[in-house]
Amino acid sequence: MAALSTFVKGLPFLAACVAASASYPPIPADLTTPVQQRIAINGPNAISVGWNTYEALSKPCVQYGTSSDALTSEACSTDSATYHTSRTYSNAVTLTGLQPATTYYYQIVSTNSSVEHFVSPRIAGDKTPFAISVVIDLGVYGADGFTIQMDQTKRDTIPSIDPSLNHTTISRLATNINDYEFVIHPGDFAYADDWYLKPKNLLDGVNAYEAIIEQFYDQLAPIAGRKAYMASPGNHEADCTEIDYTSFLCPTGQKNFTDFMNRFGQMMPTAFTSTSSNTTAAINANKAKMLANPPFWYSFEYGMVHFVMFDTETDFASAPDGPGGSAGLDGGPFGAPNQQLEFMEADLASVDRTVTPWLIVGGHRPWYSTGGGSSCGPCQTAFEPLLYKYGVDLAIFGHVHNSQRFVPVNNSIADPNGMNNPKAPMYIVAGGAGNIEGLESIGSNVSYNAFAYNADFAYAQVDFQDANHLQVQFIRSSTGEILDSSVLYKEHTEQFVVQ
Ligand SMILES: *[C@@H]1O[C@H](CO)[C@@H](O)[C@H](O)[C@H]1NC(C)=O
Ligand SMILES: *[C@@H]1O[C@H](CO)[C@@H](O)[C@H](O)[C@H]1NC(C)=O
Ligand SMILES: *[C@@H]1O[C@H](CO)[C@@H](O)[C@H](O)[C@H]1NC(C)=O
Ligand SMILES: *[C@@H]1O[C@H](CO)[C@@H](O)[C@H](O)[C@H]1NC(C)=O
Ligand SMILES: *[C@@H]1O[C@H](CO)[C@@H](O)[C@H](O)[C@H]1NC(C)=O
Ligand SMILES: *[C@@H]1O[C@H](CO)[C@@H](O)[C@H](O)[C@H]1NC(C)=O
Repeated sequence: MAALSTFVKGLPFLAACVAASASYPPIPADLTTPVQQRIAINGPNAISVGWNTYEALSKPCVQYGTSSDALTSEACSTDSATYHTSRTYSNAVTLTGLQPATTYYYQIVSTNSSVEHFVSPRIAGDKTPFAISVVIDLGVYGADGFTIQMDQTKRDTIPSIDPSLNHTTISRLATNINDYEFVIHPGDFAYADDWYLKPKNLLDGVNAYEAIIEQFYDQLAPIAGRKAYMASPGNHEADCTEIDYTSFLCPTGQKNFTDFMNRFGQMMPTAFTSTSSNTTAAINANKAKMLANPPFWYSFEYGMVHFVMFDTETDFASAPDGPGGSAGLDGGPFGAPNQQLEFMEADLASVDRTVTPWLIVGGHRPWYSTGGGSSCGPCQTAFEPLLYKYGVDLAIFGHVHNSQRFVPVNNSIADPNGMNNPKAPMYIVAGGAGNIEGLESIGSNVSYNAFAYNADFAYAQVDFQDANHLQVQFIRSSTGEILDSSVLYKEHTEQFVVQ
């Protein structure tokens, strides 16, 4: 969310680059050194590896294998993209034909890289229990980030420690690395567009924006280079500042979701080919594949779960960040008119619950939230009917900087079955991971709320226990304490839910 004071609105925020003060990380002497590493699930049996370099690569390559001393396979691409104001190039390579749920070792080809590892994705229909971490609204930590002096009671108070060593949320994700198999992050990365909140950046906004992006993805790399990190857009990806109706002042490259697209566009999947024996499902899945538009809207399957990541920022009626949208951020559209909604409908209709009993969606802006003014009405109008119709089990959002859980609900009416086989989706807001804007108040309560917390940074873990039980836990980043735990029971007796 934006937290703009009148003071900030009045700032001459795009002054020329007179006193370069942006806190850029040092450029390695070897320009092929991979930085900002990340991986993602990019198809059944496929992992994409992304990284940045301080020079263009004509042929980015990754070597890999199931033994750390025999990286016998190699995959390459020609994807090495940059934009006007960036110092780095985003590279992406996809490793295909992986055996499922197997440890792979990989090395980005460079004269200065090391061997890393990941566990390949489970195939659709594998009923082994697993968990994911849900991290949303996570900003840069350190000199340019959320250690600044504002409301210290709502921020990390750790001084002068190497950020990557003592970032409460990233640190907890590192400590708990064996507890989850991948991460979903539906929107708001880095908070580079909040550069003007640090006075030292005021005369050098263009560089400050890029410096924050570089620092953030360096800080994230220990997690994102090990666990698939599934990204979709938030408002902070839109342009160089959240100050309404000023996108036109942003330099080329710092508007219209450019860094987000460059970084994740070649990494996220489209939609998986259906493994259902039902022809209608297969046709719908193929349609979804054609209509998908990663990294904005796409889907993937993992074990007993079908996941849909969607775009609450652009590409539907009255989308807040679209041209003329209420946020004044002037982004997109990224698809043809109605493409995102047609994708959602085809994709949700394709889900065969005998293969993937669980259907989960992740987006940035919620429509259920405590407090006033934070819920996205146009998002609800566009998406809620589809979520209900196809029996989505859990809908995950962020944008509001705290932790919230709602009982299953549709049209603001709690499902009479509660957590015991409801028809309506259960909703969470997991926006408390930590960023320069701090945590937000819970505000006024709503009757269908079950939990709300804003006293410290937190994220969510979703455990798929079996085909009928899903557990959501909110974890306090600084201590690892479980703040809230709930179990959703679903019978999942219908092969294709349409209600
Ligand atoms: C090699 O990579 C390491 C770790 O990323 C970095 O600290 C170092 O500066 C790099 N060396 C050169 C010569 O660029
Ligand atoms: C990180 O911060 C916590 C809380 O302030 C402190 O207890 C811990 O020692 C710090 N860790 C490191 C590596 O400095
Ligand atoms: C296939 O699924 C559709 C719903 O998507 C259903 O109407 C149809 O009866 C199913 N066909 C078979 C042969 O099960
Ligand atoms: C943003 O980028 C998309 C895709 O490249 C393009 O279609 C759209 O017109 C752009 N929007 C603006 C406001 O420039
Ligand atoms: C679910 O909510 C939508 C509004 O988003 C409403 O149009 C629809 O009638 C509701 N469905 C049921 C079964 O209440
Ligand atoms: C909001 O109200 C509901 C229903 O009365 C209650 O269960 C929930 O604990 C309340 N939430 C907060 C944060 O007080």
